[in-house]
Amino acid sequence: MTASSLHVLVLAGGDSTRIRTGGPKALLDLCGRPLLDHVLEAAEALAPVSRVVVLGRTHGAQLGAWLQSAGRGGWSTVEQPQARGTGDAVARGLEALPATGRVLIVYGDTPLLTGEVLAHLVEADGGALLTAMVDEPEGYGRILREPDGTLRAIVEQADCDAETAAVREVNAGAYCLDIANLRTACAELATDNAQGELYLTDAALQVLAATGGATVCLDPGEHHIQGVNTLLDLAAAAAVMRGRVLAAHMEAGVVVDDPETAWIECGVEIGPGTRILPFCVLRRGVRIGRDCLVGPFAHLRAGTVLADRAEIGNFVEAKNAQFGEGAKAKHLSYLGDADVGAFANVGCGTITANYDGKAKHRTVIGERAFVGSGTILVAPVRVGRGATTGAGALVTRNHDVPDGATVVGVPARPFPPDPPSRSEG
Ligand code: UD1
Ligand code: CA
Repeated sequence: MTASSLHVLVLAGGDSTRIRTGGPKALLDLCGRPLLDHVLEAAEALAPVSRVVVLGRTHGAQLGAWLQSAGRGGWSTVEQPQARGTGDAVARGLEALPATGRVLIVYGDTPLLTGEVLAHLVEADGGALLTAMVDEPEGYGRILREPDGTLRAIVEQADCDAETAAVREVNAGAYCLDIANLRTACAELATDNAQGELYLTDAALQVLAATGGATVCLDPGEHHIQGVNTLLDLAAAAAVMRGRVLAAHMEAGVVVDDPETAWIECGVEIGPGTRILPFCVLRRGVRIGRDCLVGPFAHLRAGTVLADRAEIGNFVEAKNAQFGEGAKAKHLSYLGDADVGAFANVGCGTITANYDGKAKHRTVIGERAFVGSGTILVAPVRVGRGATTGAGALVTRNHDVPDGATVVGVPARPFPPDPPSRSEG
C-alpha cells in the first residue's frame, strides 16, 4: 500500500450496555475529559484528510451535540441505525469516505492509545493491526498465529475455548487498512459467531492478507490498549491516565508530594517550583504559576488561576477565581468567582457568597487587603486595596470597602465608627 491519503474512522455506535449507567460511555469523564475526546485527540495527531465518527441510534443525538460543543474541528458523523457489530459500524463509516486511500480505524472506548502509537500503524507498508501482550487478556479478541507467525484468526472472548482464552496476545482495536479492500471485505461479513455480530476483525484479517499488511505488537501493552467496557475498566484507564499526567508535571519541575493522592486532571498548567501537597483535586483548566504552594486537601476548579508564589492551603475550594502574585488563602475557604489581588491575605473561614439563587456575582479583593477570619463577602462586592475586614464580618452586597479602610461586624460597618454628628444646642 502506498502512502495514499489517510482518513480516520472512530467507532462510537455501540449501545454502552455493559457500562450500566444508562448513558453513553463515550461521554464518561476520564481525568477531566470525555472518553471519546481522548480518542479524537490521538487520531487528530495524524492529521488525517477526513475525520468521521460513527454514532448509534441510542446515544447518537447526545454524542452529536457534545461533538458540536466540544470545539474539536473537522469531525463529521455517520449514523449506524443498529448496533450490529464493529464490522457494520465500519461499513457505515466507509460510506462517508472516498473510494480509495487508507483508513485508520480506532474504537471510541480505547482512550489510552496515543498519536505516537497510532503513527506506527500508519507507517507500516500494506496496512497494519495493533496487538498487545497483556497479563489479563480477558475481554479482548485473542490473536492466533500460524507457526511461522502469520496472523491466522482473531477470536472474540465469547468465541474462545479454554486454550484460546489462555493466549496473551490480544487485539487492541486499532487498524490502518486499504479502503477499497476493506469495502469489499465488509460487504462479505457474516454473523456466524457467538454474539451474532458483524466483526470488523474478520474483515481486517482479510484485508491484511490481501495487501500484505503487518501487525504492530505492544509489549507490554496494558498501559496503552485498555478498552473501557465497564466502570471497572474506566477506573483502570483513569489510573493510567492520571499517572501520565502526574509524570509530565513532575518531569517539568512540579513537586508532587504524594502521587497516590494528587488528582490532577488533563489540561492543568503548573509552573516549575510549585509544590502540590497530598489530597488535592485540580480540575481541567486550572492554571498555576511558579513556586506556588497548593494543599493539602485543596480543590481548585475550572477557571482558577494562581499567579507565581500564591498559596492555597487546606480545605480551600476555589472556582473561577484569580489569585495575584503571593496571594494567600490558607485555610477553610470557598472562593468562587473572585479576584484576589497580589499579596492579599484571605483569612481562615472566608466565604464568597457568589450565588444569590439566580445568578453568580464577582467578589474583588484588592492588593494587600487583609480579610479577617470568618468573613462573609456577599457578591457583588469589592474589598479595596490594603483594606481590612474584622473577624466574622458580613460584608453585604454592593457595600464596597474603600481602599485602606477597615470594616467590622454584622452587617459590616466602618471601624472606627464615624464620630456622631453634634448639634449645637
Ligand atoms: C473489540 C474487538 C476486540 C478487541 C477490543 C479492543 C471486535 C469484534 N472486537 O471488542 O477484538 O480486543 O475491541 O478493545 O471488533 N461499536 C459500534 N457499533 C457496533 C458495535 C460497536 O460503533 O455495532 C463501537 C463501540 O461503541 C466501541 C467499539 O465499537 O467504541 C468497540 O465495540 P465493543 O463492543 O466495545 O467491542 P469489544 O467487545 O470491546
Ligand atoms: Ca470495547
